[in-house]
Amino acid sequence: MPPSNVQYHVEPTPAVSSTNVFRDELFVGKVVFCTGGSSGICKAIVAALMRHGASAFIVGRNADKARIAASELTCNSGRTCGYHPADVRTPDNIKEAVRRCIGMFGKIDFVVCGAAGNFLSTIDNLSENGFKTVIEIDTLGTFNTVKATLPYVRESRGAYLHISATLHYRGTPYQAHVSAAKAGVDALSAVLAVEEGPRGVRSNVIAPGPIAETEGYSRLSTGSEETIRASQSRYPLGRAGDLRDVSNAAIWLFSPAANWITGQVLAVDGGEYHVTSGMVPDYPQNVLDPDSMKGLIKNTKGVRSTLVPQGSKL
Ligand code: COA
Repeated sequence: MPPSNVQYHVEPTPAVSSTNVFRDELFVGKVVFCTGGSSGICKAIVAALMRHGASAFIVGRNADKARIAASELTCNSGRTCGYHPADVRTPDNIKEAVRRCIGMFGKIDFVVCGAAGNFLSTIDNLSENGFKTVIEIDTLGTFNTVKATLPYVRESRGAYLHISATLHYRGTPYQAHVSAAKAGVDALSAVLAVEEGPRGVRSNVIAPGPIAETEGYSRLSTGSEETIRASQSRYPLGRAGDLRDVSNAAIWLFSPAANWITGQVLAVDGGEYHVTSGMVPDYPQNVLDPDSMKGLIKNTKGVRSTLVPQGSKL
């Protein structure tokens, strides 16, 4: 056995570009409609679908940001991306965006419901309006988007992808508003999957963990860079997420390879949400070097059999 306190360093497996894995023409002829597509995770998903041949229409609250993003997405892919400034909280706004998308492309195959709002606040400090605002953007916004697009997605026997979170699997402090909102999004997707499955429409959720270079990540990351890096090294896959990790999952869910997948929530988080820090300290050291747990493990059969590999003298 190695001596205790041995430090292991396993280089995390890097994210890969979708073009290394999926065929270039996978989504030729498909049209994706995306809310929150001006930046971050949703923009990366749209870029990836366009790289594989899709046309796109993005919706964002800020007209300038949406226009600039649409032009970048068009230039980088050689495909067409339209845009419309709209607030998902207002049904008429989103209906108008859909009308313009249909005017431009004549159809909608895929919908990404991604518009979201977030900030850190305890329940104690959160105003009623602050709570309501996030519920309205995330949950009501998803409902409004589904209502406005459903007739077209039925026609194309297409698919929905909702961007949720893993926060509500635990009681994440400072995130009551988002946790409640995303739990609602997960529930909406499940019902949509059951109601629309018989018409050939699928609905799934991606629950991203901490994804570097996103607004959500920079808003929600607390502590020094060193603390953040140290906490990432404790995720099972050893690093923060990359936009490519999420867009690769989205490509798979929209592809025919997922034709029998609906009503599912796929956490794209490097295993982060499964790690409960209180129960077993010093992850991953404690699994790489069981001797480091020596003083903490009570000498009971159950604990020995789950935490200590065969042959250990613990
Ligand atoms: N802490 C506590 N409350 C906050 C807050 C914060 N950081 N930011 C906003 N609120 C509250 C406001 O005080 C207000 O409540 P009040 O009327 O009781 O004072 C309520 O939320 C609405 O705020 P407002 O700024 O008027 O709403 P908005 O629609 O313009 O903003 C937000 C939407 C709140 C989501 C805003 O944070 C935002 O635009 N975020 C950018 C998008 C984003 O968060 N992306 C990351 C996604 S993970």
